[in-house]
Amino acid sequence: MPRAPKTKPLENIPTGGPQHVAIIMDGNGRWAQARGRPRLFGHHAGAKRVREVVEACPDLGIKYLTIFAFSTENWKRTQTEVAGLMSLFRRYIAKETRALAEHGTRVRFIGDRMRLDRKLIKLMDNLEKETENNDRVHLTIALNYGGRDEVARATRRLAQDVADGNLCPDDVNEETLPRYLDTHVLPDPDLVIRTSGEARISGFLLWQSAYSEYEFIDTLWPDFTAKELGELVVSYRTRDRRFGAVAV
Ligand code: IPE
Ligand code: IPE
Ligand code: MG
Repeated sequence: MPRAPKTKPLENIPTGGPQHVAIIMDGNGRWAQARGRPRLFGHHAGAKRVREVVEACPDLGIKYLTIFAFSTENWKRTQTEVAGLMSLFRRYIAKETRALAEHGTRVRFIGDRMRLDRKLIKLMDNLEKETENNDRVHLTIALNYGGRDEVARATRRLAQDVADGNLCPDDVNEETLPRYLDTHVLPDPDLVIRTSGEARISGFLLWQSAYSEYEFIDTLWPDFTAKELGELVVSYRTRDRRFGAVAV
């Protein structure tokens, strides 16, 4: 008997979106606290949820998943927590590379790599390279990412292009500017989800989410499941996105 193909044909994907879901994975610390455990215990539990969510994407018609793992403001946390998170990222990438590659996931990182340690940067580069030919799910991990920081870095590069005579100031517009953002190859997110009950975006995808739909849910990230993602996707499909126009 022929073996079932590893990847499902694209025709099976349900329509109606969202094509791109972005998640602010919040609440790891409170999840651990509620169990009388250190915050890092929550971060480990949170990291374990990622695989199930990524693997649920194809059946839900989600082609792009972007997750917020560490913000440019998270360096303000204790040295113990920051070091623990960096070590978790290194271990996570080393451990998950194979599963992600076999699942057909293409991984990209956004954010400023300059402040990260060399070992971590190497692992990130390697994961991007190992998965660069995959196309089933495009997973983008925001690591040392800040929306304001991203726009500032983009503007710096844009200004350099103008100074070098490669770009005319009159050509700076809504189409050319996002080419300088970290997300330049990605579509804008259709749906942004934040777990843990906080109704703020903490700098996530500032430019890109101008017309995204938002869901702020109470579930703490380590309790988030593929089932809950499925429910949010179904609810998204009932929304009327007008983009400033009048519904017809
Ligand atoms: C999100 O969980 C993960 C990161 C920001 C790294 P938190 O660590 O912010 O958890 P809470 O918000 O304190 O519960
Ligand atoms: C946002 O969560 C960043 C990540 C989930 C990685 P935070 O917990 O850092 O955000 P604030 O401090 O509550 O706004
Ligand atoms: Mg938090």
